[in-house]
Amino acid sequence: MSRRATITSLGRFVPEKVLTNADLAKMVDTSNEWILERTGIRERHIAEPGVATSDLATEAARQALDRRGITASDVDLIIVATVTPDMLFPATACLVQDKLGADKAWGFDLSAACCGFVYALTTGAHFISSGSHQRVLVIGADVMSSIINYEDRTTCVLFGDGAGAVLLEATENGGGLLDFNHHVDGSGGFYLYMPGGGSLHPPSYETVAKKMHFVHQDGRQVFKYAVRKTCEASATLLERHKLTPDDISLLVAHQANGRILDAAAERLGLPKEKVVKNIDKYGNTTGATIPLALADAQEQGRLKPGDLILMVSVGAGLTVGSCLIRWTGLKSG
Ligand code: ACO
Repeated sequence: MSRRATITSLGRFVPEKVLTNADLAKMVDTSNEWILERTGIRERHIAEPGVATSDLATEAARQALDRRGITASDVDLIIVATVTPDMLFPATACLVQDKLGADKAWGFDLSAACCGFVYALTTGAHFISSGSHQRVLVIGADVMSSIINYEDRTTCVLFGDGAGAVLLEATENGGGLLDFNHHVDGSGGFYLYMPGGGSLHPPSYETVAKKMHFVHQDGRQVFKYAVRKTCEASATLLERHKLTPDDISLLVAHQANGRILDAAAERLGLPKEKVVKNIDKYGNTTGATIPLALADAQEQGRLKPGDLILMVSVGAGLTVGSCLIRWTGLKSG
């Protein structure tokens, strides 16, 4: 059997503070009914001022290591998928390495918005399958509240803060990450972007006055693309492995909108019981939604060794990614 990467531990962290739909209705012209019906979101967690992505990422990573029963010194590589790094540099992965005390690890950030986690998972898995690394921490973490305009009702209701971490190790029992199917379409980049703060529009009074340091989105365009590509990216993997929806035990998809999940599952022929949906409690936490969904599925006893898990995500970029995993079970001690 060939050497593959498999997920051996999971960790998650969300800040304590909860922002409900009722809270948002006091801030912008919206209602609990509209948000719930159009997005499936009831509440989201929001970091306190001064709490950054590296703080959330470190908590999630620490939980994954504790559950596995290893120390940070056992980690070879840390990849942080985020669009809200603590600062442009140093990389958030370096800050996490220091906070964890992972004295033998190297690391880097990966920027692919909502596909960040699946891209980071695939990247980390290659370091394992090549035999060069034994343990890789893959973390999806975002403090979306730091780039959201809480006067814009079309975006502020959607996003939340959180982090999820997985530990990758080698397996030779035929399981683990079997395949992936990723692509990007940069021509759609302006449907969902943060125009200010980079080298094109460095921060200035003007960029701030024009609110260019916030998320801008053409929700309708992104919605249509997300439904179509979630299905295509999933179907490609199924066809490549001669699988039918019946073979899939669980769809762990990016949580951007409950209606995207419902529409994609229906088109794919997957019943609701096979779809992980936790957007109601967290909103869209960008890099964190898939590891948070995995952690919830694990807690609910929905991940069993031998199960085929399909992960899929569509997000800013535009980015598309899907992964097929044969679950091998978590390890402890
Ligand atoms: N409360 C009340 N009304 C609202 C709100 C709100 N919070 N937001 C928008 N509306 C209004 C609009 O102004 C519009 O009014 P109008 O018809 O008078 O102009 C009406 O509701 C309908 O607006 P739509 O944009 O058509 O609403 P839609 O049903 O498309 O829902 C939403 C909007 C929720 C944003 C949806 O388009 C969506 O989820 N898009 C995809 C988001 C996504 O997947 N993002 C990708 C991942 S994120 C990442 O990669 C970082």
